[in-house]
Amino acid sequence: MESGVSIGAMAGDLARGALRVFGLLEEVFATELYREQAKRVRDPKTVAVLRKIQADEATHACEERARVEAPDGLRNVAETAARVCGALAGAIAGAAGDYVALGLDFLLERAQAASYRASARLLPRGASDEERFVLERALEDEREHVGLVRDRLGV
Ligand SMILES: [Fe+2]
Ligand SMILES: [Fe+2]
Repeated sequence: MESGVSIGAMAGDLARGALRVFGLLEEVFATELYREQAKRVRDPKTVAVLRKIQADEATHACEERARVEAPDGLRNVAETAARVCGALAGAIAGAAGDYVALGLDFLLERAQAASYRASARLLPRGASDEERFVLERALEDEREHVGLVRDRLGV
């Protein structure tokens, strides 16, 4: 019984750790994606929305970085890879046109909201109020992003 509990606790810790790393890389990817898209899309209202979302994603990346427990060297390598992929995806999608860029953004924002919902569900009972607050606020931001992107898509 006791080993079952400890295996369950270990699985929970592993899942939380993996989700934090994934969340950080997703936020770093998104920050660079929006930065590059904002340079290329045509509609000034869309540019303004992308810049606003980019600023939020950069804040989320800082918050997620503070929650990740990994050696700095390893984290930096992974973040660099996510940054390069985000910049490439943003440049390609932005050059393909506003509608393509926003379509990709819509999928990304839905995924980000799902990540934060999963993180909130996996919080341990002893999690601090501050950690809960940060996750809930980020989830609210992602929901807002979904709405902003949907508005620009006109769907
Ligand atoms: Fe985010
Ligand atoms: Fe977002």
